[in-house]
Amino acid sequence: MCGIVGYIGPKQAVPILVSGLKRLEYRGYDSAGVAVLDGASLETRRGAGKITNLEGALAANLLTGKVGIAHTRWATHGPPTERNAHPHRSTDETIAVVHNGIIENADLLRRQLTALGHTFRSDTDTETIAHLIQELYEESLEEAVIAALRKVEGTFGIAVVSSRDPEKIVAARQGSPLLIGVGDGEYFLASDASAILAHTRNVVYLDDGDLCVLTPDGYRVMDIHSTPIRRSVERIEWDLAAIERGGYDHFMLKEIFEQPQTVENAMRGRLILEDGTSKLGGLNMSHDELLNIDNVIITACGTSWHSALIGEMMIEEIARIPTEVEYASEFRYRNPIVTPRTLCIVISQSGETADTLAAMREAKRRGARTLGLVNVVGSTIAREDDGGIYLHAGPEIGVASTKAFTSQVVALALFALKLGRQRTLSVIVGREIAEAMAELPKQIQSILDSAPLIEKIAETYKDSQNFLYLGRGYNFPAALEGALKLKEISYIHAEGYPAAEMKHGPIALIDESMPVVFVAPHDAVFEKIVSNIQEVRARHGKTIVITSQDEPALEGLIDHEIRVPHTIDMLTPILASIPLQLLAYYTALKRGANVDQPRNLAKSVTVE
Ligand code: M6R
Repeated sequence: MCGIVGYIGPKQAVPILVSGLKRLEYRGYDSAGVAVLDGASLETRRGAGKITNLEGALAANLLTGKVGIAHTRWATHGPPTERNAHPHRSTDETIAVVHNGIIENADLLRRQLTALGHTFRSDTDTETIAHLIQELYEESLEEAVIAALRKVEGTFGIAVVSSRDPEKIVAARQGSPLLIGVGDGEYFLASDASAILAHTRNVVYLDDGDLCVLTPDGYRVMDIHSTPIRRSVERIEWDLAAIERGGYDHFMLKEIFEQPQTVENAMRGRLILEDGTSKLGGLNMSHDELLNIDNVIITACGTSWHSALIGEMMIEEIARIPTEVEYASEFRYRNPIVTPRTLCIVISQSGETADTLAAMREAKRRGARTLGLVNVVGSTIAREDDGGIYLHAGPEIGVASTKAFTSQVVALALFALKLGRQRTLSVIVGREIAEAMAELPKQIQSILDSAPLIEKIAETYKDSQNFLYLGRGYNFPAALEGALKLKEISYIHAEGYPAAEMKHGPIALIDESMPVVFVAPHDAVFEKIVSNIQEVRARHGKTIVITSQDEPALEGLIDHEIRVPHTIDMLTPILASIPLQLLAYYTALKRGANVDQPRNLAKSVTVE
């Protein structure tokens, strides 16, 4: 949600900043801007809309200089116009600031600064920081930033440059990620490593409360009292190919097609077929500590919340531990029952989702042990949890989460298997589960081969106004996920329901114009869902049914069928989600929507 890039070194800053912004565009894409210092001259260029508009502004009016900061925005305060695009400048135009996060006391600060004679030129909360720094500037930029941040309430990742201290970038982090890129005689700043990976793999992750000063000669990290802090340099292990489209039309399509590999990666070295269990090195919990868990709470948002629902069923079914799932945004403000024997699992692709992070901190405060299922290595949740399971899915750039979802479900299955084998699950059943998991990559590949069939179904229904997604048991969350995928990228209204709930209300919507997607593999509730399919047919609804390859019962009963290989019940949502993702992708594509950057959304939601 919003992206920051900074550069200081011997090269021209603008090309580095703009290419970094393009890598970050998936984090927010409603406006963008740069500020560059050339000696004591500080200039900015900004543009509403995509980064190509900013490039137009830069082409029309060149900017030179070797120190600069840049930003791509997802609007919180004020509409996505050029006037609200970052960087924002102080009244005397000597300070420029880019900011991710929200300044909660911005209105109060704005009134105070206006009374002191400052002139505001935007509707943003960020602009207050620029004026505040000007107001408090005495000796150096870092001192002024520290003084300003003492007056600010809220969350921020900021980068600041000033014509009064031109050989410097000052940055600070409180609740919004930032890292320093350490190059060879040059230094970078970014909210996300992908922005600077073309230049360096060596990064220093900043923690909340950290402030850093970059100069052409090096960097310093300190706290808000100017006390120096040592932070280690870490190496990014993935390479540029992972954040490029690699011949696919969209990141989302690439990421869907990567799933045989990403599911394999999630299991690599972890699945122990012989013992029917898993080995999970990052849990940081002993055998006895795992046995001592009384209950599990899983908390997450969006797609990650859907995988949590599947995890709940797996843990209860095969490990017999009471488990509940809660939206992170609700959990954080409730008074939940948490004990030292509660395990709180937080699931997040980005590891930065504000509500999920806050929920994890709340669970910790109440004494729970926390376990993060996270994709982005080095992200805040991954660094603050007590233990974790990395998804190893590689960078997910498409705003619609796909490969992270299947990897989350795999990670949950591995964990449930481990818990189950420690408790009541026999080695025979454990082996059956492990063997079924080992089959998944090959099975996913075979589903991907049916993409042309799904594309045809998308063509048939692309003009529909509404879709209903129905599933039962393990595939009720899959139905929710299918509906979310469709609505977020195609803008068609879609709802997911447990199939049997349909007759308690949604059935009123069924007529010949309503496509209904049934997630109906051959599992324990298959016969039940067949009745629900008949109920829709009887009302002339259109049925698109995802079912198992070896299932003859539906012939003549449905309008479209998508066949997936047979697997054990708990793994069916993994296979079913592949056609659901493809259906959403092709439908959005045929409606001319921007698949990778759907309107109003951003990849990682770092505001609550
Ligand atoms: O990074 P996270 O997994 O914490 O993100 C949670 C949601 O914001 C995310 O899954 C969102 O719902 C996606 N756009 C779904 O495709």
